Amino acid sequence: MREILSWTRGYFKDGGILKPRLEAEILLAHVLDVERLHLYLSPDRPLTVDERTRFREIIKERRAQVPLQHLIGEVTFLGLRFRVGKEALIPRPESEELLEKALDLALRDREISCLDLGTGSGVLAVCLARYLPLARVTAVDLSREALSLARENAELNNVFNRINFLESDWFNRVEGKFDLIVSNPPYIAVEELASLPVEIREHEPRVALDGGRNGVERIEALTRRAREHMRPGASLLLEIGNGQGESVVERMRESGLVEAKVERDLAGKERFVIAQCP
Ligand SMILES: C[S@@+](CC[C@H](N)C(=O)[O-])C[C@H]1O[C@@H](n2cnc3c(N)ncnc32)[C@H](O)[C@@H]1O
Repeated sequence: MREILSWTRGYFKDGGILKPRLEAEILLAHVLDVERLHLYLSPDRPLTVDERTRFREIIKERRAQVPLQHLIGEVTFLGLRFRVGKEALIPRPESEELLEKALDLALRDREISCLDLGTGSGVLAVCLARYLPLARVTAVDLSREALSLARENAELNNVFNRINFLESDWFNRVEGKFDLIVSNPPYIAVEELASLPVEIREHEPRVALDGGRNGVERIEALTRRAREHMRPGASLLLEIGNGQGESVVERMRESGLVEAKVERDLAGKERFVIAQCP
């Protein structure tokens, strides 16, 4: 194991993988079906022929820029396990922060209704259902493949019965009003898509990335109609791209929402806009 890890570190480094040693360890632990700690506890353990073959195949794919998460097939998000794949965006740590803010605003002791627009793998909807035991959740996506993955993740986390999955172009088929709306919409400017790293550009769905002109077209489309689906006092929380805050806040004010403000993520970048329904 020690030798193979050291060789793979070099192989990944030459291939431009940013954290070569860490990724080599994660993939070896995955192939051997052990915790990473095990690699340190028995560094002299030899690999069987079969293990070596499987490891060789997986590291080749990683060096060809297949995302690490796709090779492992799952991620942890706010302490829960989610299956990931080509069907939907790989959940990002910033979205964990979005959900923490939503949970801070939510009333835990009431039967509130929540909406997740553009649910993708279902991370936000599933976490809302798990961490707000009295909440009813609606999860919307335009992509049928993403919705099917989201359903699978709801089952995996035992909240399938508490989430209503809806194929819809944002609010088009959504009925009723909500106490909490969260969304991590596509917000990358269409002009910037071509310069994204290969592992994003070629492996994650374009519909999950393409935010239209300046990256704010999808955000604007859903902000325009949010208020008609919010109860008085309801909160809207959006994830946005760095530099989009001011214009999104402006759109929210125009649509009649109040207390609209931009918040930064842990890296100090503009990342969230939060507003309330009067
Ligand atoms: C950035 S991904 C977010 C996925 C997930 N919520 C997360 O945080 O990891 C945006 C999602 O919005 C969905 N989407 C894009 N356009 C949409 C539309 N017009 N109506 C509904 N969903 C849409 C995409 O399919 C994708 O799943």
